[in-house]
Amino acid sequence: MRVTFPSSFLWGSSISSYQVEGNNLHSDWYFWEKQKRLVPSGSACRHYDFFLEDFELARQLSHNSLRFSTEWARIAPQETFFAEEALTHYARQADELTQRGITPMVTLHHFTNPIWFSKKGGWTVAKNIDFFLSYITKTVDTLLPSVRYFIIFNEPIVYIYNGFIRGIWPPGYKSFRLGRKALNNIVTACTLAYKEIKRRAQKEDTHISIAKNLIWFLPCSRHNLGQNHFFSFTRDRAFNYFLLDKLCKMGVLDFLGVNYYYKQYVKNSMCIFGKECKDSHHKDRKNTLGWNVSPQGFSTLLLSLKRYGLPVIITENGTSENDDSLCADFLFNHIKALAHAFLQGLDCQGYMWWSLLDNFEWDKGYAHRFGLIDVDFNTFKRSVKPFARYYKKIIDENAITF
Ligand code: BGC
Repeated sequence: MRVTFPSSFLWGSSISSYQVEGNNLHSDWYFWEKQKRLVPSGSACRHYDFFLEDFELARQLSHNSLRFSTEWARIAPQETFFAEEALTHYARQADELTQRGITPMVTLHHFTNPIWFSKKGGWTVAKNIDFFLSYITKTVDTLLPSVRYFIIFNEPIVYIYNGFIRGIWPPGYKSFRLGRKALNNIVTACTLAYKEIKRRAQKEDTHISIAKNLIWFLPCSRHNLGQNHFFSFTRDRAFNYFLLDKLCKMGVLDFLGVNYYYKQYVKNSMCIFGKECKDSHHKDRKNTLGWNVSPQGFSTLLLSLKRYGLPVIITENGTSENDDSLCADFLFNHIKALAHAFLQGLDCQGYMWWSLLDNFEWDKGYAHRFGLIDVDFNTFKRSVKPFARYYKKIIDENAITF
């Protein structure tokens, strides 16, 4: 069977500023790294210097879209100062992409904050939302009209979970109460930012969303199956749909940005959301991070989104493997799953691989490589991986055959 995608389909990949640029000295992550609480990101891929080369490679790989993020701490290194150099840099990035026939999609918050913002209590303090809105206004004014796609916030729930509940990312809290407070403020910030961007854009064709991470939760089939069903259900509701329901009800998403990586088994625990079952009785293929590969989960979750009646863009999907052919398999099987969802009526308008470049994988450092392009972190030499050429072929045909 051959499935052809619409001619306007966005094909490309994603990156985030902190993970590729290097030397983001004013970010809260950098502050933690200096205190030796995290692996140092150092120069990352030096994308801030080499973005032209990277965009040229994206063009050679037939990308017609690329998702990148702006680093708030670079644009506002101090509370009262906006760095024109950084704003001009990001505007240039958007223009250079456009000149290459690549539609830019800009993420305005991808896990990192300026140090000064964190010191003021960050997302736990409602009045700090105004700082975020000033940054958004300034940045969006610089990027309009060349950018038509904005992601206000990347994976709010993942950010809250790791930063406010598990405490393994900045700001490092371990508190449900603070997590809930921060999430409420982020929801308010997204709502206000949506309205502000719309007001400033004054154009029908500005598309705004968040990137929502989705995980396919399944009850562990061993012991207490009935209870595991319950816990997998509560986890699914809370992690996958709670936020989307809320933002959709408020009418502040023009499309659904979806990040999908894996499935997770859930078993009973003292907590209402159960806990992950990592036992070896689950025989799925795992990537280098131990994530269970599941294209079936991808199509199942995508079809569940039809209820929102909004177009979907896959803002991240990818894997890290030591064997290139496993990346090619992952890519093929996930695009096939996407095609199945498409045939069943899902309005999907784009697919972006995570990531364009091997990069800094947060608390895991540099060992896990998600890129279409290999980066030598000593010389910063880029080399296109074989599976990226396979992706190019799918893009060139705008179709998949299986
Ligand atoms: C994040 C990326 C991250 C990727 C792989 C996504 O959840 O948005 O920043 O690198 O997962 O872990």
